[in-house]
Amino acid sequence: MNVLVVGGAGYVGSVVVEELVRARESAIVLDDLSTGHRDAVSPLAYFVRGSIGDEGPLQEAFETKSIDCVIHLAGKSLVAESVAHPERYEEANVAQGRLLLDAMRAHGVTDIVFSSTAAVYDPSAPMPLHESSPLRPENPYGETKLRFERTLAEHAARGEARFVSLRYFNVAGASIDHGEDHREETHLIPLLLDAAREARGPVPVYGDDYPTPDGTAVRDYVHVVDVAEAHRRAARYLADGGESRAFNLGSGRGSSVREVVAAVESVTGRRVPTRRAERRPGDPPALIASSDEARRVLGWKPQFGDLGAIVETAWDWRMRHPEGYRE
Ligand SMILES: NC(=O)c1ccc[n+]([C@@H]2O[C@H](COP(=O)([O-])OP(=O)(O)OC[C@H]3O[C@@H](n4cnc5c(N)ncnc54)[C@H](O)[C@@H]3O)[C@@H](O)[C@H]2O)c1
Repeated sequence: MNVLVVGGAGYVGSVVVEELVRARESAIVLDDLSTGHRDAVSPLAYFVRGSIGDEGPLQEAFETKSIDCVIHLAGKSLVAESVAHPERYEEANVAQGRLLLDAMRAHGVTDIVFSSTAAVYDPSAPMPLHESSPLRPENPYGETKLRFERTLAEHAARGEARFVSLRYFNVAGASIDHGEDHREETHLIPLLLDAAREARGPVPVYGDDYPTPDGTAVRDYVHVVDVAEAHRRAARYLADGGESRAFNLGSGRGSSVREVVAAVESVTGRRVPTRRAERRPGDPPALIASSDEARRVLGWKPQFGDLGAIVETAWDWRMRHPEGYRE
């Protein structure tokens, strides 16, 4: 398959490209490097620098090879920024996504795998969350992801597209070559690892009075290599005629902030400084996925079952790339 990976220089996208190349699929990457890194792109992929909002690079990416499937990971994903500037999220996650769909149609490409999120669900729904659980995003980030999922469904209903939306929970960990290097880091595990190696000060623990076993918020951490493999399977599922739908990607296990801190201390052998902070508005007590559907329909077999293994791979990558990717 020739797969166009939009956002393939980002954290998840770089591992998706690695996985495609490993499986001998052909990868073309379109990325504007707004949050990604050129050095994160496998040398075996064809790279086009540019935005989906710009006709020239979009055209070049579609004309490099005859594209069989698009994997769309580009977008904005900082919840706090989405609350402060919802219009930026509307533009990046919905309007620009529509331009990508227009380009697909112009080039006769129907299949698309989209990076969605657990943030589309109603966080007060019973856990674990199933694909049929109620949808009620709590912030503009989740709203714009859900809006684009619905845009995909409208295109599919008109016979213009076939899609898989992958609703990731908390992606974490690293492959041998690719790890997490966000310029503005908000994810717990890389923050804790940096605190462990004294590259940053105490990490805030937002809320310790949640109705959870130790009072801190519980999330479902899923390994980035397992997430990447699900993309390859989703692309293949569409190529084999699978019907358009969403799948959750999670481990099915919840880990509290305190448990993640303990795992980081155990893996690194260092004390991790943290500080108590107020709950953040819209942060639910727990988010846990059921990924039974991805296992059943896509044959997805996550390999990294426990939090310790996830943290180990992230720490290993960080120690080998203390400054992240070279710019
Ligand atoms: N990392 C997670 O835990 C997580 C969880 C749920 C959902 N997601 C979603 O998965 C996707 C990837 O997440 P990530 O952590 O890898 O983010 P990331 O910021 O590392 O990657 C996004 C990539 O898209 C590129 N990009 C952004 N806008 C673009 C545009 N207009 N044109 C071309 N390229 C553009 C960026 O340069 C970057 O390389 C995002 O859409 C995010 O919302 C991530």
